[in-house]
Amino acid sequence: MQFKTIIEPFRIKTVEPIRQTTREERAELLEKTGYNPFLLPAEDVIIDLLTDSGTGAMSSAQWAGMMLGDESYAGAKSFYKFEAAVRRITNFRHVIPTHQGRAAERILFGSLLQPGDVVPNNTHFDTTRANVEYRHATALDIPNPDAHDPALVRPFKGNIDLAALEQTLIDHAGHAPLAMITVTNNSGGGQPVSMANIRAASEICRRHGALFFLDACRFAENAWFIKTREESYAGKTPLEIAQEMFSYADGCTMSAKKDGMANIGGFLALNDDALAEKCRNLLILTEGFPTYGGLAGYDLEAIAVGLEEVLHEDYLQYRTRSVAYLGDILTANGVPIVRPTGGHAIYIDALSMLPHIPQSQYPAWALSLALYLEGGIRSVEIGSVMFGHQPDGSEKPAAMELVRMAFPRRVYTQSHVDYLAEVILYVNSIKDQIRGVRIVEAPEVLRHFSARMEPMGVVLPLPG
Ligand code: F0G
Repeated sequence: MQFKTIIEPFRIKTVEPIRQTTREERAELLEKTGYNPFLLPAEDVIIDLLTDSGTGAMSSAQWAGMMLGDESYAGAKSFYKFEAAVRRITNFRHVIPTHQGRAAERILFGSLLQPGDVVPNNTHFDTTRANVEYRHATALDIPNPDAHDPALVRPFKGNIDLAALEQTLIDHAGHAPLAMITVTNNSGGGQPVSMANIRAASEICRRHGALFFLDACRFAENAWFIKTREESYAGKTPLEIAQEMFSYADGCTMSAKKDGMANIGGFLALNDDALAEKCRNLLILTEGFPTYGGLAGYDLEAIAVGLEEVLHEDYLQYRTRSVAYLGDILTANGVPIVRPTGGHAIYIDALSMLPHIPQSQYPAWALSLALYLEGGIRSVEIGSVMFGHQPDGSEKPAAMELVRMAFPRRVYTQSHVDYLAEVILYVNSIKDQIRGVRIVEAPEVLRHFSARMEPMGVVLPLPG
């Protein structure tokens, strides 16, 4: 008998209590924190879907591995274990540990980009974009056209637009030292990229003398979607698929806080010797010696084990299935989400759910406030608060207004997901009462992290 319920492929050994809050408390907390979910104390959140980054539960093997951490400043045993784990998957010659993904980005771009350069990417994540722009270079998003239609069901909506990639490399010849593909495409709805697309992008870059890098944060989830959605990959293991993905690239940046299954860490890995040398010199300046890069030996151990566990098929199946489970309930009940569901998150299409709120009043931000107020759910806006402010100071509405609910790895169970579904369906039933928000004060760069907002009218009236 083939049973269809997909159970969490783990037992729980350590538990962490969740503090319940009332709606009144949450209303007060929102006001106190400037209506910015980033500024809420985590203790006051019931289900925290702000991010899947560094929020996962480690396995007993990872905790055991941490006890083996070699804390030597140089040449620690833990580094060589970490290096071997990264090489087994990526096969890149140089493996440079960093404290997290954005440090790898800063070091790579700091070594490679000149003012006026252009970096094409299917879609830059916010820190990636900020690190490109910090070098006075342009971060160009060129997702394939299907990516702009949240409701359209296609297997690989994360694909880069290959024609646009080639045109960009021609138009900016000599000023486009690298192109990137983000797997999965986080800011574009967590959508995967096909092997065919990675292979073709790599060929285009090679032809035009540009380096080709993967932003590999969620490489294992991407490998799983290739296995389950792309012809001729069903019989391959996630490891074999990941190895092939990396074989087309000249290097990668990685946040081990995602598919490294660790609470902190990252790396930059690449083949070019001279570039690696330059990156290592920058690394020493701010991160640390090249065999620890700002991490403790025990962190390197946890990542080495995590990189192995993340490619287990039962884990990847459970992970993508729990996201799809919530997605299916929402879709069946008319809540517009980015479809098909990706690997790490559900993205509600706030523009379509709240047509009465114009983009200038940040509908996705307003929806994330309503989810917190009604059910204590913390999510994140991926829309015009995050991406609307341009480097020249102007405002440009984002391509989509999404509320992302990202699932920490191995943390929540199916009953948590059922609770989420109940809250979201309730908020959907009273959506006409949700009002927009305006920005009261915000910094120039990465403003969503610390902006203070104000609801335009009451967020949601008290029931009754
Ligand atoms: N690239 C992508 C695609 C990411 O999703 C992130 C982080 C980074 C780079 C930077 O890595 O956080 O280790 O410095 N994303 C988290 C998120 C923060 O919530 O999606 P980091």
